[in-house]
Amino acid sequence: MRALVTGCAGFIGSHITDRLLAMDYEVIGIDCFRDNYPKKIKKENIREALQSDRIQLIERDLSELSEYPAVEYIFHSAAQAGVRASWGDSYATYTRDNIEVTQKLLEYYKENPIRRFIYASSSSVYGDAPLPMQEEERVQPVSPYGVTKLAAEHLCYLYWKNYNVPTVSLRYFTVFDPRQRPDMGICRFLNAVLAEEEITVYGDGTQTRNFTYVDDIVQANICAMKAPSQSVTGQVFNIGGGNRIPVNELIFLIGTITAKKPRVRYDNTQKGDVRDTCADVSKAGKFLG
Ligand SMILES: NC(=O)c1ccc[n+]([C@@H]2O[C@H](COP(=O)([O-])OP(=O)(O)OC[C@H]3O[C@@H](n4cnc5c(N)ncnc54)[C@H](O)[C@@H]3O)[C@@H](O)[C@H]2O)c1
Repeated sequence: MRALVTGCAGFIGSHITDRLLAMDYEVIGIDCFRDNYPKKIKKENIREALQSDRIQLIERDLSELSEYPAVEYIFHSAAQAGVRASWGDSYATYTRDNIEVTQKLLEYYKENPIRRFIYASSSSVYGDAPLPMQEEERVQPVSPYGVTKLAAEHLCYLYWKNYNVPTVSLRYFTVFDPRQRPDMGICRFLNAVLAEEEITVYGDGTQTRNFTYVDDIVQANICAMKAPSQSVTGQVFNIGGGNRIPVNELIFLIGTITAKKPRVRYDNTQKGDVRDTCADVSKAGKFLG
């Protein structure tokens, strides 16, 4: 079996790649090493995977390709991620990498049949929805990033509805592990505490997040790949860890684990940040197992 992983050198894409290789799949990875963080971190993310003779890395921008690989499964993980950078001039990068690239892939694979197209959506599509966030909830993003993730999710739905492209959208809730993107909270806080530098928290730290370990995200992708088509295609699923904690408690835990005392500076809440997130995962439990 052959799978395409877009964004294969990124945080989550590299984990999906590792799992597929461990399952004896052939993997074609496409990543253009966008400069949202250093290329050397992305190279390190896929260093081990590239030892395999079942992987091919195509170092290209998806928006510039006119053809994509012939595969059975697609894990579409490439995007401009991150809420805070999505305002202003950089919004154009978000629309290109998140919306236009997704449309281009869907357009291509409507003519070139595949078994499953799994799209990495985000809890950011909910905005400040009531908790726990449910798939049937009205989605109302509060960041430009969330708008682009939602637009691409709608594209996945309409290419399924009109052309039977077998799409599944997974709404990830804040993902963590040692490869976490350097702009994300846990990575920033750990690095700062270890270097005995001040941590900046936007808001008063009582905001909560439903953190999700990356292996659970990978497992959800594998379940979405294997589930019967009629029960998952054209659908969206929340994928979130089982609990949520306030940011202040997270920092306290980091202090305990590192045996260092975090120094925290509180700054204004950033526009686009939601107050709380919490996934209702009963739909994923029922249909993805
Ligand atoms: N990390 C999270 O907590 C989280 C939460 C919700 C959703 N997501 C989604 O999961 C996916 C992966 O996020 P991540 O945290 O691993 O981000 P990441 O930045 O580590 O990975 C994304 C990768 O895509 C590549 N890329 C971007 N545009 C490209 C293009 N046009 N052509 C080729 N490659 C391109 C980048 O170079 C990068 O390596 C994204 O779609 C993101 O929106 C992530």
